[in-house]
Amino acid sequence: MTELVIETAGLTKVYGDTRAVDGIDLAIPRGGVHGFLGPNGAGKTTAIRMFATLIRPDAGHARVLGHDIVRAADEVRSKVSLTGQFASVDEDLSGRENLRLIAKLFGFRGAAATRRADELLGAFGLDDAADRQVKKYSGGMRRRIDIAASLVVSPELLFLDEPTTGLDPRARNEVWDIIRALVRHGTTVMLTTQYLDEADQLADRISVIDHGRIIAEGTSSELKASVGSGTLHVRVMRRQDRDAARDILARELGIELGTTHDPQALVAGLEDRSGVTRALAALEQAHIELAQFSLGQPTLDEVFLALTGRPAEDEEEAA
Ligand SMILES: Nc1ncnc2c1ncn2[C@@H]1O[C@H](COP(=O)(O)OP(=O)(O)OP(=O)(O)O)[C@@H](O)[C@H]1O
Ligand SMILES: [Mg+2]
Repeated sequence: MTELVIETAGLTKVYGDTRAVDGIDLAIPRGGVHGFLGPNGAGKTTAIRMFATLIRPDAGHARVLGHDIVRAADEVRSKVSLTGQFASVDEDLSGRENLRLIAKLFGFRGAAATRRADELLGAFGLDDAADRQVKKYSGGMRRRIDIAASLVVSPELLFLDEPTTGLDPRARNEVWDIIRALVRHGTTVMLTTQYLDEADQLADRISVIDHGRIIAEGTSSELKASVGSGTLHVRVMRRQDRDAARDILARELGIELGTTHDPQALVAGLEDRSGVTRALAALEQAHIELAQFSLGQPTLDEVFLALTGRPAEDEEEAA
């Protein structure tokens, strides 16, 4: 049997009228990255704060690394680490001072604390910035010191709450590399994200959460497959050709094509790919030039839309 790092039954947290986490059942195996994907206010932070024993559930149960999060909170706390969405390092201290301080809190003494701090600074590429105040760090450096701070003692299970929100693409990639390296060294990571591509890149398994409930689970491919076998994206060179292209594709493929805000584009879910070559030939015969014709797996955005009936970015309206 696979060992579970997190197991929940009906886990619930209520704030006034808001059911922030509304009865979730999870069984998360050891190893790899588990993605917790959902829009603003879905309940991601609330759920992982319960797992990390920072808040208590109002109903239901959870075991983290085999320990009950209420009855054995101390055991859980000694084995997990949380890098918060709003991080906890001291801005006025330098990177080295922060890490040394945390190491001392975990029982490293003098020279050992310094050694651990320096190891982490090296591993996270922060040698040059080690003695600079954290408030003078760039966003990417700041995120790296946050993660380093949560790794002073190697946790079995690491919670990362939106570790790349607000980072530029390069810094995001650096954080992704760090996460991959942690997983190679045996840490199980539970990652919350609003970014579908982040879950796609990193997560071995994904739980989609919306309004406090788990609405879908699986690998990114499984989630995509649940939407259909593929999505056809077509873009005509000349906008006036779009309607003709739409008629031809509808006839050849036996499907209905949707339009998007782009006046030259058509999109359709495909159950069956067999008519695609014939459809392309028919477009050519009608002298319709194409700027794009692609057949791919649906994106996680499309999955989210299919699951929730609204795009992933639409959080504010949903709330
Ligand atoms: N301490 C609190 N007091 C009152 N309401 C809260 C509290 N914490 C969270 N909530 C509410 O619970 C719901 C879930 O919030 P949560 O922070 O868990 O969402 P999230 O998925 O982490 O969102 P985001 O992506 O914006 O971080 C929201 O409606 C939020 O307003
Ligand atoms: Mg959050």
